[in-house]
Amino acid sequence: MKITDTFPVIERNDFASDFRWGCSTSAYQIEGAVDLDGRGESIWDRFCATPGNIRDGSSGTVACDHYHRWQSDLALARDLGLNAYRFSIAWPRIFPAGAGAKPNLKGLDFYSRLVDGMLERGLEPWATLYHWDLPQALQDRGGWNNRETVAEFCKYADVVSRHLGDRVGRWITHNEPWCTAFIGNHEGTHAPGIRDWKTALQVCHHVLLSHGLAIPAIRANAPGARVGIALSLHPHKSASGSPEDEAATLRHDGIRNRWFLDPLFGRGYPADIWKLCGDSVPIVKEGDMEAIATATDFLGVNYYFPETVADAPGQGPLATRVITSENVERTAFGWEVSPEGLIALLQRVAKDYRPAEIQITENGSSYDDTISKDGNIEDVERRDYLARHLIAVKEAIAKGIPVKGYFAWSLLDNFEWAEGYTRRFGVTHVDFATQQRKLKLSGKWYRAFLRHQVIGA
Ligand code: FCB
Repeated sequence: MKITDTFPVIERNDFASDFRWGCSTSAYQIEGAVDLDGRGESIWDRFCATPGNIRDGSSGTVACDHYHRWQSDLALARDLGLNAYRFSIAWPRIFPAGAGAKPNLKGLDFYSRLVDGMLERGLEPWATLYHWDLPQALQDRGGWNNRETVAEFCKYADVVSRHLGDRVGRWITHNEPWCTAFIGNHEGTHAPGIRDWKTALQVCHHVLLSHGLAIPAIRANAPGARVGIALSLHPHKSASGSPEDEAATLRHDGIRNRWFLDPLFGRGYPADIWKLCGDSVPIVKEGDMEAIATATDFLGVNYYFPETVADAPGQGPLATRVITSENVERTAFGWEVSPEGLIALLQRVAKDYRPAEIQITENGSSYDDTISKDGNIEDVERRDYLARHLIAVKEAIAKGIPVKGYFAWSLLDNFEWAEGYTRRFGVTHVDFATQQRKLKLSGKWYRAFLRHQVIGA
């Protein structure tokens, strides 16, 4: 199904009036200004400095220069008609040396101004505490593999929520712990670039633990705050339906989805995967699992694509392989496009875990945008991706799933981690040479949708 210009098949009025409409960004991907106002080095600064780690050899040193342009960027968000904006705080701006008794006030002030700027523009601030930019100084002491990092995170969460808690009512502890743990410490293609399964599992445990242990301070500092975590979740299908592939799919789902959802919802780590991890299982201390299961107010779901899984004896720790199935629709990045996958995923999460509230904290697509002669970016595919996923959200809500908000990834084209600037996800185009912003067709569609306008009719 394609959305045409004359066809707003979905309207804002189809959703509750208090539905949150946002865009998401993250600090390292947009801010730049890595040496300013006392910011310390992050693991991404270090990782990008090693040739070969980033596809185009770039880094987030300048990125979207958002640190200097935040006012006009927030104006873009307001002009879209958003009522919420999800951003992340750079830990190395707050504790440049990782640990230490005193936070860097200039770092805190930046976020204080940013939050005020959101409130002035009618944007509800949604703060993510950890979107992958660990202070390098903590990595030098073992990073998330070291249990002391959990205590440092709690201190950081305490300081930030004390400073912003009077104005920020929505808190996300971690963005996509799967990526932190497994892309960063097993696949090694993200910072800190470690390739070790056992380390990844321990990192994962500490990240989840830090989520739970930070919640009481956030609640104390930000009365009435609603706290959650954003997970990257995927629906799965087996490559062939054979018993081997079905079993492999269950294992893959076990590490991708259940390894996070089960402990967060009080069930501990899934026994089938724990067993398969053998000697690599993480050290879990008394009380850890209770802490991880600390009650939250919402579950953040970052959804991009489904995965097709095959049995792969001898391959990887769980003997599974994600295959690139033929004849499916894909973005230019190669990610499968499947709005129905989002519905299936939400149904499964709602049925198996019963979260009180689900927020789609990220969803979006990367295409090779071209600028037309008259300077417009006609990203029809991204517009259709957005519209089709909103239809999916509407359908999920109609099935009784408590989705209460949707945040498009992303407000701006930005630094896409190991892909550098080669992948554009924004509803706003950024010319990285001039820092000029220009709303794409997808952004115009989102704006018209949010303003209840019928476009193209
Ligand atoms: C998610 C990340 C986000 C961005 C999108 C495309 O996994 O949370 O920072 O890179 O993918």
